[in-house]
Amino acid sequence: MTHTTVTITGAGGQIGYALLFRIAAGDMLGFDRPLRLRLLEIPSGIRAAEGAALELQDCAFPLLHGVEVTDDPRVAFEGCDIGMLVGARPRGPGMERADLLAANAGIFGPQGAAIAATAAPDVRAVVVGNPANTNALIAAAAADGVPDDRFSALTRLDHNRAVGQLSAVLDAPVEWIRDVAIWGNHSATQFPDVSHATLAGRPLSRVLAERMGSVGDALAWLDEVFIPRVSGRGAEIIQVRGSSSVASAANAAIEHVRDEVHGTPGGWTSAAIVSRGEYGVPEGLVCSFPVASDGTGYRVVEGLTIDERARSRIDASVAELIDERDAVRALGFA
Ligand code: NAD
Ligand code: LMR
Repeated sequence: MTHTTVTITGAGGQIGYALLFRIAAGDMLGFDRPLRLRLLEIPSGIRAAEGAALELQDCAFPLLHGVEVTDDPRVAFEGCDIGMLVGARPRGPGMERADLLAANAGIFGPQGAAIAATAAPDVRAVVVGNPANTNALIAAAAADGVPDDRFSALTRLDHNRAVGQLSAVLDAPVEWIRDVAIWGNHSATQFPDVSHATLAGRPLSRVLAERMGSVGDALAWLDEVFIPRVSGRGAEIIQVRGSSSVASAANAAIEHVRDEVHGTPGGWTSAAIVSRGEYGVPEGLVCSFPVASDGTGYRVVEGLTIDERARSRIDASVAELIDERDAVRALGFA
């Protein structure tokens, strides 16, 4: 029987621990897809990854046909079908933004090169480790010969956060809410956009205006409450929990890969993918868009009307992505 090989970097960390058992149980690829896991860590994280591997064995998951732990990216990505690039360098005390980008370029450059050298020809890789968009840009640039549309970065967590907030405020089941979009960077500048969203088939902005009393009140709520709440949620979680989101991030990464592989029939989601110039986003940037997949990879949902309010928010986040790209270029990456 053929296996799907899933490589998880930073597998000994928090998100790794929340990912491994769900993937091995079949939550990501389906309950009929046997898989092999490759866990990549740096030496200081190897014991944690080895411990997780022991626990995976103790679960006796029927779909799990092997686990390998390594600190060598080339071994980790050998024959890899799906890469989940979670391990990254967090910002340390006194570290400038340029230092953080350089440290991460030193991780995602070699991993991109290892993917090019040893992964399966149809490999797909999603970057979770921050700064996720720019880390994906670096990995794609270093993966000589691998089409850059195989690389994406996670903004599904932001998408899910937006849906969760709308569900709570409108007291509606999440499955009634469709076609929310996250644009831009996985950062505070992102634009969570509900202008095309529907609630049980009705324009969500109209439902909001009815609930809030007027169109103006609904817009004020979006600008003053909803957008800051969603874009600041990562920071809120850090403040409340004392460390960054884990289970929700792992869940989003699983949903990102699941929908990319199985498709998004009849709707869309959000993911950061390499721009081909859609909606005026400069070509080559890894930018979050509304995306759909037919099972062969995410593509931007085109043809949406972008009003002035949306345009300026998208432009602000894209400007930040351009700055990040220019900073890594200045360091000789990408
Ligand atoms: P963590 O510190 O618990 O784990 C990270 C692991 O990566 C550590 O075990 C570390 O040893 C390992 N690592 C570091 N460099 C590595 C390398 N070169 N190769 C392989 N492994 C390496 O952190 P976490 O909570 O699991 O978070 C991981 C990353 O995900 C962070 O960058 C975090 O900011 C990011 N994150 C992203 C999102 C998102 O939505 N995109 C959400 C939450 C967290
Ligand atoms: C999140 O969105 O929860 C994280 O990306 C926050 C962070 O800085 O790790």
